Amino acid sequence: MKKILIVAMITVFALGAKAQKFEGLADTPPMGWNSWNKFACDVTEDLIKETADAMVSSGMKDAGYEYIVIDDCWHGERDSLGFIQADPARFPSGIKALADYVHSKGLKFGIYSDAGWQTCGGRPGSRGREYQDAMTYASWGVDYLKYDWCNTEGLKAEGAYLTMRDALYEAGRPIVLSICEWGDNDPWDWAEPIGHLWRTTGDIYNCFDCEEDHGTWSSWGVLQIIDMHPGIRSAAGPGHWNDPDMMEVGNGMTVNEDRAHFALWAMQAAPLIAGNDIRNMSPETLEILTNKDVIAIDQDTLGVQGYKHIDEEDYEVWVKPLAGGDVAICFLNRTEEAMDITFDWATNKLVDPDFGHTTDFAQSRYDIYNVWTHKKAGNTKKALKASLPGRDVLMLRLSKK
Ligand code: GLA
Repeated sequence: MKKILIVAMITVFALGAKAQKFEGLADTPPMGWNSWNKFACDVTEDLIKETADAMVSSGMKDAGYEYIVIDDCWHGERDSLGFIQADPARFPSGIKALADYVHSKGLKFGIYSDAGWQTCGGRPGSRGREYQDAMTYASWGVDYLKYDWCNTEGLKAEGAYLTMRDALYEAGRPIVLSICEWGDNDPWDWAEPIGHLWRTTGDIYNCFDCEEDHGTWSSWGVLQIIDMHPGIRSAAGPGHWNDPDMMEVGNGMTVNEDRAHFALWAMQAAPLIAGNDIRNMSPETLEILTNKDVIAIDQDTLGVQGYKHIDEEDYEVWVKPLAGGDVAICFLNRTEEAMDITFDWATNKLVDPDFGHTTDFAQSRYDIYNVWTHKKAGNTKKALKASLPGRDVLMLRLSKK
């Protein structure tokens, strides 16, 4: 096997074909599951297999979740030729067998590495081994690579991610490239031809409104993340998405907070990567994660990330233009107390500041559909009056009559 890989590597270099990004792999934001938020370094082949089973039996696969991604700490040592191997205690059957298992469930398989010499968890990174690792991943049947940014002293982000993009292309297997440099190097300015999604912020933390201080770095609550980088939505679109990090739905926030978190990710056309233990979910968590009406807004084929139409300290109104002239609108109560709102459609013309999509309720009437109750809710003739529970949303889909 390794001889074949080495011959393949030499052939690739000899042919010298021009590398590029694999197109068509993420026309809508990727959906799946990743081990990190819940399990950190505690990953095993049994966990991944059971998670793949649960993805199917829970209905998440039918709802659109596709990738099962092992994050950091699956790695063992490199062998004498430099090939990366799985940790033999945690993954005794090896990664190829695990990828085969995930594929046998009709799912896709993802893995994690780092552009530096070590991963954030101290495992071997891909620096200087990019082509060799890409060949290895392709030979294992990997479909998705999350590529991190720890221990990258002296590297330039754009060049480092370009090297891995080219290595994946030369390896010949279409693999989604998930760029994870936390928004530190403004990837929205350069990553569209390189990756399919790029993290826009530091790590998420399992809270709605907090900053968790780790000394040299912080992780961030849902509100902190949605407040970061308000000006980058025009960089997102089919095949290239802003990634505000994997979700914390089901990891301990209240049901209201989880609902708001999921809604806001959908409004931002964010990748929907579950980060909870999907083998043991409450009915409420499952209902949130598999809400097909909310998922349809995230996955809408127009591929436009939402914007804030009203931006107040305690209250926000988000708008996401959809294919065919529909519009999603999401009213967010940022506070812990319930809040009464009134929204007069006629005086709120919705104008997309980057793409120009316009909805004028004074000109046309729209039917209202509540995507959390799955009920029709009248039309835009009369002003909307509603009570928003603390840290929750009202999310509606509007369709022209
Ligand atoms: C970084 C990433 C996280 C996770 C960890 C793994 O912090 O941003 O999403 O992958 O590394 O060590």
